[in-house]
Amino acid sequence: MCGIVGYVGNRQVSQILLDGLHQLEYRGYDSAGIAVANDGEIAIRKTAGRVTDLDKLLEANPVNGSLGIGHTRWATHGETTDVNSHPHIGGNGEVVVVHNGVIENYQSLRTSLTELGYVFRTTTDTEVAAHLVAHHLEERIKLGDDADDVETCIRAVQLSIAKFKGTYGLGVIFQNFPNLLIAARCGSPLVIGIGQGEFFLASDASPLVGYTEKVVYLQDHEMAILTPHTFDLLHRDTGQQSPSIQTIDQVSSDSDLGDYPHYMLKEIFEQPTTVQNAMRGRLDLDEATAVFGGLNLDPQQLRRVDRIVLTACGTSWHAGLVGEYLLEEFTRIPVEVEYASELRYRNPPQTDTTMVFAITQSGETADTLAAMRECKRKGHPTLAICNVVGSTIAREADGGIYLHAGPEIGVASTKAFTSQVMVLTLLALYLGRMRHLSYQAGQRMIDKLQQIPQQIEKALECYDVVKDISPKYAHCNNYLYLGRLYNFPVALEGALKLKEISYIHAEGYPAAEMKHGPIALIEEETPSVFVIPRGSIYPKVMSNLEEVKARKGPVIAIACEGDEKIAEMADDVIYVPEVDEFLQPLITAIPLQLLAYQIALLRGCNVDRPRNLAKSVTVE
Ligand code: F6R
Repeated sequence: MCGIVGYVGNRQVSQILLDGLHQLEYRGYDSAGIAVANDGEIAIRKTAGRVTDLDKLLEANPVNGSLGIGHTRWATHGETTDVNSHPHIGGNGEVVVVHNGVIENYQSLRTSLTELGYVFRTTTDTEVAAHLVAHHLEERIKLGDDADDVETCIRAVQLSIAKFKGTYGLGVIFQNFPNLLIAARCGSPLVIGIGQGEFFLASDASPLVGYTEKVVYLQDHEMAILTPHTFDLLHRDTGQQSPSIQTIDQVSSDSDLGDYPHYMLKEIFEQPTTVQNAMRGRLDLDEATAVFGGLNLDPQQLRRVDRIVLTACGTSWHAGLVGEYLLEEFTRIPVEVEYASELRYRNPPQTDTTMVFAITQSGETADTLAAMRECKRKGHPTLAICNVVGSTIAREADGGIYLHAGPEIGVASTKAFTSQVMVLTLLALYLGRMRHLSYQAGQRMIDKLQQIPQQIEKALECYDVVKDISPKYAHCNNYLYLGRLYNFPVALEGALKLKEISYIHAEGYPAAEMKHGPIALIEEETPSVFVIPRGSIYPKVMSNLEEVKARKGPVIAIACEGDEKIAEMADDVIYVPEVDEFLQPLITAIPLQLLAYQIALLRGCNVDRPRNLAKSVTVE
């Protein structure tokens, strides 16, 4: 994670860097800093805390200059202190560096550099990068390279990154080169914005909006050499490249908070629209199927698929679990849902005709990217179900399906989950119709799907009830979330939402599994949230609920409107509209998102920026 920005041109740079860091704060918010070059000096301002703390620091102590780099940190190595904040100085200040990623061999590099006399001021891995570039710069000059030649700086960076094991997105500036910014990428995203007599650097395109529409996404092992009027792109193996310039979509007003107090609440309430957007243009009423523009596989290839692997992390993995149930039910193709962090190092047997989907909101999650690359390397078609257009996973996949959910800014994923589930439902319809699903069955599915946005709208009305009941439960420190079949992944997702934003211990389980262990946790202060809409196994889940009640466990039930029986059994009921079983996750997830939000508010937690988390997890 971590967010990087940089600028070289003629404008005053510090506000550009600060604005960019505000945009990238979703990537980490442990500390922030900038370095600005001016008159042969590099001024650094950095602080533990948020970008707003850096704003204050700069108000009190401004810096001038038109070359700079900035960073917002999600700590991996070293505590979140002022001194560990980026940028970091190399040598005696000849070089200044910002870094996103992890330099895995930093300990051995640090030892060698210490032996050479370099003094480490921080406990970060990044400081190694700064000193190493400074070291190679000095060495090259000693060996006769021209100290005033940009080539010497380039060489110093190349020699340094050749020694790194791990991942990096780097921004490097030099004390003696007030017009030179070098960026290098291996595993951590970087994009260059192309302006008139100026260039921008950022971890994603959002800070560039308003400055330029022309961007170049760096690939692994590429380095960008930027001055106000020149942009050279070098690849480690092939040397000089010509940059492939792309146009970014301008970010819509979706990133405004509007009247909502938090992005999370705004994004929860956007779901009728975002789910509609995920469906838009993808229903073929005549053929009673779904259509996708970007799968890049012809029907014959798709017809041959005999196994599907869905790989993802966190909430996206939960959406994948719903996808497994959907795809197996409607297509009869066996599906595996793999944690990307496991799949990347596992070697599961996969048939020649296995198709792999990486599911990801950000399109930058390091584990998901690595798992996808591993599958691609083995020759499988790899497709992405992704929200962020132009993200690394979207670009590297052979094809895919965008969510069109708009920017998701709250760290806890909400609207991306329902959009992922919607896309997976459409995929089940599409692949199902190529196999066993009849025309009539396809039509029935489409009829039901078209009603979903309104039903989500209706489900959101439960927010008043959620607000009423939350104070009763907000003090509890342990929760169980229980559901079966399609609502088992929803239970997992509900528990994850609660724990990540309110720091409450919560476990999701298949309701019937509870009696194999977790039931021991039941007591008067441990609420169980039962996801129990009407459906084929409603009586079974009800029996599980009774088992909890028999042990004096409080029960909050998520149930269908009109279910009076549940009101007699549960302590509190949150009603949602009744839908077909295969569509239930799109509805039952809503009250769980709202419940987590409301409890976090009552506990005084920072809902949009929960501790220790970041929106985009670009480290292993
Ligand atoms: C939870 C959450 C995370 C992400 C996970 C994967 O609310 O947001 O669990 O779902 O880090 O992120 P993406 O979907 O961007 O790959």
